[in-house]
Amino acid sequence: MRRIRKYGEEILRKKAEEVKNIDGKIEKLIRSMKETLFYSNGIGLAAPQVGVSKRVFIVYDREKENLITVINPEIIEKEGEDIDLEGCLSFPEIYFSIKRAKRVIVKGYNEKGKEIIVEGYNLISRCFQHEIDHLNGILIIDYATEIEKEQYKEKLENLLKKKK
Ligand code: CO
Repeated sequence: MRRIRKYGEEILRKKAEEVKNIDGKIEKLIRSMKETLFYSNGIGLAAPQVGVSKRVFIVYDREKENLITVINPEIIEKEGEDIDLEGCLSFPEIYFSIKRAKRVIVKGYNEKGKEIIVEGYNLISRCFQHEIDHLNGILIIDYATEIEKEQYKEKLENLLKKKK
């Protein structure tokens, strides 16, 4: 179980590093990310959110009860559009309306080092795009309108005040 980094913490803005070796260290990281995700009841988590600037994310597909881990992810196909409210464990109780591709195909590696190709629709597609954004230092607030930011002004300011 690791502490989830919140908006205002520098690591969330860094471009995460490519994973060179899928070794015991990465396995350990993934294990702790899974624990952290389940404990926080989230659907997705990227390594920078637990303080590790590496290109790793996990997404839990509740419908299929499937936990997807992708190392060095890359979107190879995008299709359609979908606008919906989107939250983030690094922005507690804050939701912004974000346009995402309705379907994506992501290529990467699983924790065993095997190349994988995963397809996501709707919510899962949204999660894949959200988590890959994290690996590039992009956060949900970057998509928000001034009106939306105003709506959450107090919560956002409190997060920035708390930052370490
Ligand atoms: Co997030």
